[in-house]
Amino acid sequence: MNRRRKIYEGKAKVLYEGPEPGTLVQYFKDDATAGNGKKHEIVDGKGVLNNRISEFIFTKLNGLGIPTHFVRRMNMREQLIKEVEIIPIEIVVRNVAAGSLVKRLGLEQGTQLPRSIIEFYYKDDALGDPLVSEEHITAFGWATPPELDDIMSLAIRVNDFLTGLFMGVGIQLVDFKIECGRLYENDMMRIILADEISPDNCRLWDVKTRNKLDKDRFREDLGGMLDAYREVAQRLGILVETD
Ligand code: C5P
Repeated sequence: MNRRRKIYEGKAKVLYEGPEPGTLVQYFKDDATAGNGKKHEIVDGKGVLNNRISEFIFTKLNGLGIPTHFVRRMNMREQLIKEVEIIPIEIVVRNVAAGSLVKRLGLEQGTQLPRSIIEFYYKDDALGDPLVSEEHITAFGWATPPELDDIMSLAIRVNDFLTGLFMGVGIQLVDFKIECGRLYENDMMRIILADEISPDNCRLWDVKTRNKLDKDRFREDLGGMLDAYREVAQRLGILVETD
């Protein structure tokens, strides 16, 4: 039972007040949503898997000096995180054409992009998270130009790390979404990685079979979402009991 004060509830996670000032508890739900919440199902055990996969990745990123909000995993579904001021931008990094890029530009799914591309989406459910440019972000004050530089360099470092991590276990990192926040600590402010990195916000394709091992299994009604997430965890060497 969780008796902590709820700070925020999103589609896949809940944030509770943390045990110490400046901390929060991030709880991973089993809810799977797509199409801005239009499609919704409970997938038993997804939260447990995402908690473990995100813990694994954020621990490695912290170890590489890429700053994240992750402190430690507390239990099957919760992790202790540093409280940040979330920047209202979703940062998408793409290596291979898929998803909305394919629809927008008429590319063929699976086309290798000439170089990694960073896109920004304004976090606003009512507007359906529209694609925005750096100009919008700085003009409307969602992030300053130096903050945006930090965000982009963070995104590139995360992409380099994740591409290698997944390639090592036979998985192609097609694209992913991250979120960043401002951490105020010791009279300083810096941009760090927040939210989660899991098959909910990455496209992951098996190198040999081209099978999708991510949330597209749910979005496209392919079935086998939980098995795919388990496969990702298992290949990364993470042992997870979901039941
Ligand atoms: O749908 P689209 O092709 O723009 O998604 C790009 C990447 O960002 C995908 O890996 C998707 O899982 C992720 N994403 C996300 N949350 C959103 C939109 C996209 O995690 N709201």
